[in-house]
Parts: sequence; structure tokens; C-alpha cells
Amino acid sequence: MTNLRDQLHRPLRDLRISVTDRCNFRCQYCMPAEVFGPDFAFLPPDKILSFEEIERLVKIFVSLGVKKVRITGGEPLLRRDLPKLIERIHRIDGVEDIALTTNGTLLKKYASDLAKAGLSRVAVSLDSLNEGRFFQINGHRGKVKTVLEGIEKAAEAGLLVKINMVVQKGVNGQDIVSMAEFFKDKQHILRFIEYMDVGNSNGWRMNDVVSKKEIIDQLHQVFPLQAVEPNYKGEVATRYQYLDDTGEVGVISSVTDSFCSTCSRARISAEGILYTCLFATEGTDLRELLRTEADDATITQCISEVWENRNDRYSDERNEQTMEKRKKSKIEMSHIGG
Ligand code: GTP
Ligand code: 5AD
Ligand code: SF4
Ligand code: SF4
Repeated sequence: MTNLRDQLHRPLRDLRISVTDRCNFRCQYCMPAEVFGPDFAFLPPDKILSFEEIERLVKIFVSLGVKKVRITGGEPLLRRDLPKLIERIHRIDGVEDIALTTNGTLLKKYASDLAKAGLSRVAVSLDSLNEGRFFQINGHRGKVKTVLEGIEKAAEAGLLVKINMVVQKGVNGQDIVSMAEFFKDKQHILRFIEYMDVGNSNGWRMNDVVSKKEIIDQLHQVFPLQAVEPNYKGEVATRYQYLDDTGEVGVISSVTDSFCSTCSRARISAEGILYTCLFATEGTDLRELLRTEADDATITQCISEVWENRNDRYSDERNEQTMEKRKKSKIEMSHIGG
């Protein structure tokens, strides 16, 4: 294996692959219905990487150091035959872990097939247990009940389940404790995500963020917690254990306590563009290379060069100027999958 390092000496370890830019939800903070309406031009099928193309890329990325693969969207379970892709990736030597980020609505249907195909873990997004608030947040598309059924099925199928909750002041800040209580009892790891300025459509303001400190302070009053060491170097979530030994929660604090110094993640959009940061404005077109009959060595060389030149640290540098500079030109979350 190569010892690839970027400009800040960070290795390449994780590959996040978006398999579709479509979603059956319209979360206000990600794909607001006013922007992603009936006339929105989603990618046509021929512009989306095929399973063969994805498999080829994963093999190349593994040769450059990748060990973990995460499938994202949009909503990845909208991609037809997704378990077949998982199966292909599972067969690749060197892939140690395959995870999926999903809104959970189709998990009930697919959990068992996904687990059989070799998926290890799912991260299910759920921002509230209150049906009314959840409906509001997801653009009037889905029910809490459906997501919870999906989570149950995933656990039954043997998948390790984490729950991701994006916390927004005045939207679901009041749900922090009830979410913790519910998933603590279920023994699933809940992670609170600070609301971020990803994409160009959500009108993000610093005032809408509930900070890691505020989240932990709130929880600690009800369920005393202590911080614990990360599971691995570069883990995105800061971990906290309940003092009564009933499990753990995590907080992903990209806004108030960023973690760029250990960021080992590359991202590929559904159309095959390689991005080296969630907040990137530009990427490298791998589909073009794949479809012009470049050999593996050429593609490997291209990816190596991109990684070696990488110096992204958007969240570390986030301020009025950096935000202004990228205004309207960042990649959308639905393209890059978080
Ligand atoms: P584990 O492998 O379980 O540790 O998962 P993960 O935390 O890497 O993945 P997941 O997709 O569950 O991440 C949850 C959320 O954290 C994402 O949806 C993003 O909102 C945020 N996140 C993940 N990676 C990054 C990153 O590199 N930068 C920033 N700013 N946020 C990230
Ligand atoms: N800030 C933080 N997290 C976000 N996600 C989507 N948009 C944002 C945002 N603006 C989360 C989703 C899901 C994952 C794909 O990213 O809720 O958990
Ligand atoms: Fe869909 Fe997830 Fe974006 Fe919501 S956050 S619109 S569920 S991709
Ligand atoms: Fe990595 Fe960019 Fe997120 Fe920093 S902001 S952790 S460089 S993806």
C-alpha cells in the first residue's frame, strides 16, 4: 500500500460515495422544496456512475490507502439494486468496513438484503421523535414511525446502527433530551450534529447553531456524562459515555470545534466527481477519465496527485471572509452526501 499524504500530512483512509442525487425527503437544511421542486434537473441516468465504474474506483482507492467505504446520496436506497453494489464492494480485498447513511424510510424493505450483501453499519438521520416537527423538517414527506421501523429492522438484521440528529435552534433544540432518552434505552448510539453551512440553499446563520457545549450541558443535567477517547484517530464525533453505564452519545462539532487536522475523507459524487472537502467548490472529474478508456495506472496517478495537493481545512478556517468567498459556489449536500 502507498503512503499517500496530503499537504497537511493527512492520509487517505475513507471513501464516501454518493450513488444518487435524489431524495424522497425535502429537509429544509439540505434540499429545500422551494429549490428542489418538480422542475429541478436531477442527474440523468447516463451521467451517474454505474456499479462497474464504482467498483473499479473503489479498487483504485483501496490501493491508495482507503479502508472504509460509506455509501451516501441523496437517499442511497433510492438507487435500484443497491445491495448488489454493496456485494461488489464487499468482495474487494482491503475494504474493512462498509457503511450507509440513510434517512431510514426504505430500510424496512432493504435492511436484510443489505446485511446479507456485506454492509456492516447504517447511520440513520432522524431529527425529532415528534411527528409534527419531523414532518415539518423533512418537507412533509415522512413519518417518525416509518424510520423507527427501519431502525428496528436494521438492528434485527445485525447491522450496527447509529442515529444522526442535526440540531437547529428554534427547530428541534427542544428534542435533544427526549432523543437521548429514547435511544439510550434502545442501545443505539445517537450523534448530535451541529448545523453546518453546507451547500448554498439553506440560508445558514451562526445563530441557528446549537453548539456542542450547549448540547452536552443540556444532556448532562438529566443524564450525567463523561467524555471518552475516540475509537480511532480522526473519528468525526466526540464521544461521551453515560455515567450510569447505559451507553454513549456523540457530538459532531464541525462549527464550534472542527476536526480538519485529522480529516482522511475523500468524496465522490453520483456523477463521478472527486471532492476532497465537504465544502469544496471544485472537484476532479473521474467519470470523464473512466469513460475515455484511461487505464487504472492513469486514474491512480490522477487521484494521487489530487490527494497530494490537497490542503482543505474549511471548518478550521470558517469565518466571514471564507464564507463570503464560497458563497453560492459550494457543492450541495445532496450531491456529496455529508
Ligand atoms: P463513523 O464511521 O461511524 O465514525 O461515521 P462518520 O461520522 O464518519 O459518518 P456519518 O456519515 O455518520 O457522519 C455524520 C455527519 O457528520 C455527516 O453527515 C456530516 O454532517 C458530518 N461529517 C462527516 N464527515 C465530515 C467531514 O469530513 N467534515 C465535516 N465538516 N463534517 C463531516
Ligand atoms: N448541517 C449538518 N448536517 C447536515 N446534514 C445534511 N445537511 C446538514 C447540515 N446543513 C446531515 C443529514 C444526514 C447527513 C447526510 O448529513 O441530516 O445525517
Ligand atoms: Fe434527503 Fe438526507 Fe438531505 Fe434530508 S438530509 S433531504 S433525508 S439527503
Ligand atoms: Fe475535512 Fe473539509 Fe470537513 Fe475539514 S471541513 S473535516 S477538511 S471535509
